[in-house]
Amino acid sequence: MTALTPLPGVDTLVEAALRRVGAVTSDGADDLVARARRWGPDLDAGIRAVFEPPRADALVARLAEIAVSGWLDRPQALRDRDRDRLLTPDWFQGPDTLGYVAYADRFGGTLDGVSTHIDYLRELGTTYLHLMPLLAPRDGANDGGYAVADYRAVRRDLGTMADLESLATALHAAGIALTIDLVLNHVAREHPWAEAARRGEQHYRDYFHVFPDRTVPGEFERTLPEVFPDFAPGNFTWDDDVAGWVWTTFNDYQWDLNWSNPDVVCEFADITLFLANRGVDCLRLDAIAFLWKRLGTDSQNQPEVHGLTRALRAVARIAAPSLVFKAEAIVGPAQVVHYLGVGDYAGHVSDLAYHNSLMVQIWSALATRDVRLLVRALEKFPPKPTTTAWATYLRCHDDIGWAIDDTDAWQVGWNGPAHRAFLSEWYAGRAPGSFARGAEFQVNEATGDSRMSGSAASLVGIEQALEAGDAALLARAVARLHCAYAMVYGFGGIPLLYMGDELALLNDTGYLDEPAHADDNRWMHRPRMPWDVAAMRHDSDTLECRVFAMVRHLGDVRRSLPSLHAAVESVTVETSNPAVLAVVRRHAAGDLVQVYNVSEDWQRCDVGVLGSLRDRELVEHLVGDVPRIEDWQLVLAPYAAVWLAAR
Ligand code: GLC
Repeated sequence: MTALTPLPGVDTLVEAALRRVGAVTSDGADDLVARARRWGPDLDAGIRAVFEPPRADALVARLAEIAVSGWLDRPQALRDRDRDRLLTPDWFQGPDTLGYVAYADRFGGTLDGVSTHIDYLRELGTTYLHLMPLLAPRDGANDGGYAVADYRAVRRDLGTMADLESLATALHAAGIALTIDLVLNHVAREHPWAEAARRGEQHYRDYFHVFPDRTVPGEFERTLPEVFPDFAPGNFTWDDDVAGWVWTTFNDYQWDLNWSNPDVVCEFADITLFLANRGVDCLRLDAIAFLWKRLGTDSQNQPEVHGLTRALRAVARIAAPSLVFKAEAIVGPAQVVHYLGVGDYAGHVSDLAYHNSLMVQIWSALATRDVRLLVRALEKFPPKPTTTAWATYLRCHDDIGWAIDDTDAWQVGWNGPAHRAFLSEWYAGRAPGSFARGAEFQVNEATGDSRMSGSAASLVGIEQALEAGDAALLARAVARLHCAYAMVYGFGGIPLLYMGDELALLNDTGYLDEPAHADDNRWMHRPRMPWDVAAMRHDSDTLECRVFAMVRHLGDVRRSLPSLHAAVESVTVETSNPAVLAVVRRHAAGDLVQVYNVSEDWQRCDVGVLGSLRDRELVEHLVGDVPRIEDWQLVLAPYAAVWLAAR
């Protein structure tokens, strides 16, 4: 009888791999092994949640090897950064963390061009820059760069990998962390893996989901939603070269990867470390909800997704611990918290996740002048792990999908589908009294659903006011923008300022003249940075100056308030006035109470919202004036946004 030998731990595997290459006594090797001891169990747990032995054992061993080779390639400056970040693990949670999101080409022309605008970013207090897809995409239509043909090369017109490294170094020197996209659900049809599959190589055909006929796709389609019903209906595309139906959730040229293939897992572990070693601090895990497919479901948010993330993150923690993950999971509240981790996964998956619900609810509240649905939606969020943070935002490069839960709507006395239809009407500027100038995106004839494109300024009414040449209307629209961004900056987590919002840039219809963009109106809110307009931020009396100063001020105030650290939650407080939102952040350094009036009328709410601050001498941080209190009520100006604390 042979006794079962226990499987070696990841630290043992790492040490053995170091020994094989003669690096076990090299500088930092001890720390690497220590980290493998610390995060090895995560790697193991993640993989074993998805794969059975002996495949799981082999995969863990391969990932340990990848971690070692990734670490061996890691430049010393980044190893130093790892050490510093390990000493400050909450580096992305503090109130000083401010995000900015831009397309490299539209912001700076090239990667080198971006570095010439670092001062502009610093002016806004930026400490975190997300540059939109910049890895080499396919030629022609490429979904804004989300159809990657080479993860190890930069888009030709933007520069080279060496330029990306120089930019990262320059950003780091300015105190700015760099985020880029890691598209892991799909590759371009022109990616070498897909090309090899198309040449008939079985090894690579297994990287994808390919079906000989419609039988299986037909079964899946029964429960799959459509992401682009308008220009890419269905989830499968016939491909002559592979003589089969290929899974394509998004566009027909974006081939979904088969993550149940361990080779795919290893490829991405390797790519993750490759990008980390170029100086990238955060990977935005694009469309991560779609990674795992399961018959009879919508094939989103499957538990395996979290096992895979846990394992990938563990590889990164071992080899490049200053790297963090941001989940792009645009899913409901009950699902999204799983990306930050629930139960045994808490704090072991992504470090950041987009707060899509907050974004949608801010727009809903501004249209209805009613915060009850927002409050209802936020109340449903379980607390997130204290080591993680939300990425909060008002606008991004995508459309706004009206992610409003029918039950929530019903509980505040509304009808879900009717409310979503109203929001589309309102923001498309068709509803009577609308202040918005947006455009519908992906109208789904079958379900009646539609989403919304448009820049923040155009959606909050600045475009309408400028058209009307009405100064009072303009002041009101700017106040509306301030109110919305104050919620984004005040929620806790990383506020993401979307390029152009700081200058109130309007919709850009130029995309209609570009054949690769014309059918996708999301390009109306992806403008090129007009640097001549940006220069006006210093001319007092201009709209640009007003809005820029306003956004900058939000950042300055935020930075000064320890209670905005992401470790604590924002909790809504009953205001007994549907037009008024109150949020409390309870923090050891002192509580912060935020009150927002989402309407153009004066409003009042009970002083009870002040909670623990009630009998204290108050200070207001955003505007400097504590609202008047009359008859036990706070009196709030139109679109007031106030952040109150004890003096
Ligand atoms: C993400 C991106 C979106 C893209 C999709 C497919 O949702 O934000 O722009 O179309 O992924 O990659």
